[in-house]
Amino acid sequence: MGPKRVLSGMRPTGRLHLGHLHGALANWLSLSNEYECFFFSADWHALTSDYADTSRIAANTREMVMDWLSAGLDADKCTIFVQSQVKEHAELYLILTMYTPLPWATGCPTFKEQQEQITDKDLNTLGFLGYPILQAADILIYKAHFVPVGIDQVPHIEIARDVARRFNNFFGEVLVQPAPKLTEVPKIPGTDGRKMSKSYGNTINLTDSADEVRQKVSTMMTDPARQRRTDPGDPSICPVYTLWKAYDTEENLEWVRSGCTTAGIGCLQCKKPLIERINEQLGPIQERRRAFEADPAALDRIIAAGNDKARETAAATMTAVRSALGL
Ligand code: TRP
Ligand code: SF4
Repeated sequence: MGPKRVLSGMRPTGRLHLGHLHGALANWLSLSNEYECFFFSADWHALTSDYADTSRIAANTREMVMDWLSAGLDADKCTIFVQSQVKEHAELYLILTMYTPLPWATGCPTFKEQQEQITDKDLNTLGFLGYPILQAADILIYKAHFVPVGIDQVPHIEIARDVARRFNNFFGEVLVQPAPKLTEVPKIPGTDGRKMSKSYGNTINLTDSADEVRQKVSTMMTDPARQRRTDPGDPSICPVYTLWKAYDTEENLEWVRSGCTTAGIGCLQCKKPLIERINEQLGPIQERRRAFEADPAALDRIIAAGNDKARETAAATMTAVRSALGL
């Protein structure tokens, strides 16, 4: 047995932000030093909700993969690919639907939640219901042992596990039962104090210029009770302090805490070194990005090579699956 295998994917929704950088990406980077990793753009999954307007999906995949590479993901240490370019996923998905009792799909908490929350699109489709089964195919086709995801995705990994178990009950140990890999990630608030998320329009993007970062953090929400410079503040309820915690040492955090609670520093003073930290972090990322932007063919080559590698692994699993079924 070689090293354990890790697989994860993101839907291509556009440019990535600090939440992704400190969360999924930091995690992927360290996992790629330890495991055999596959990371992919889930563009068919994007289609489950964006079926009416597909105009951004392909471009978003490129933007997103460029952000991964700029953030330091190394294509020599992991396999980076695009779901729709490995058709084997679709074949396994079709087969797995036969082994998925309907209540596993209709009872999935994300299915109900999203249908209630997303009101501007009709998500009453077979494709949307099948979302977790397609995700199960993504995972099982690479025989992944671990799937690094956020807590919201855990029900999907459980469905993948259950489907693999059910398939194996019929046909023997063909598929590997995956486990979610939850890792502690720092909380990254957006500029309005809510969780940083594209849908809230409160993000600091990896591609934001130093000026944009300065402008966004300068106007970022603080302890709302701290109205005047002379009012002491409460860092524990201040999103700027929460963001500080993702960046700095206890020593500097102590400077923020004591300065804030005694009104020794003002909010702009507090924000200034944080702005510098963020810009120091984004500088090298943006430099790498410029290199990819200047040479789009290099990105094409990385993705094409990743697709080929992924396809090889996926094809081997499909050979085993077809033979188990006698097809
Ligand atoms: N559903 C995941 C998300 O929205 C994306 C995804 C698709 C995925 N297939 C996957 C994640 C397989 C991990 C493994 O974030
Ligand atoms: Fe927040 Fe810093 Fe202002 Fe305190 S001084 S309220 S921690 S921004």
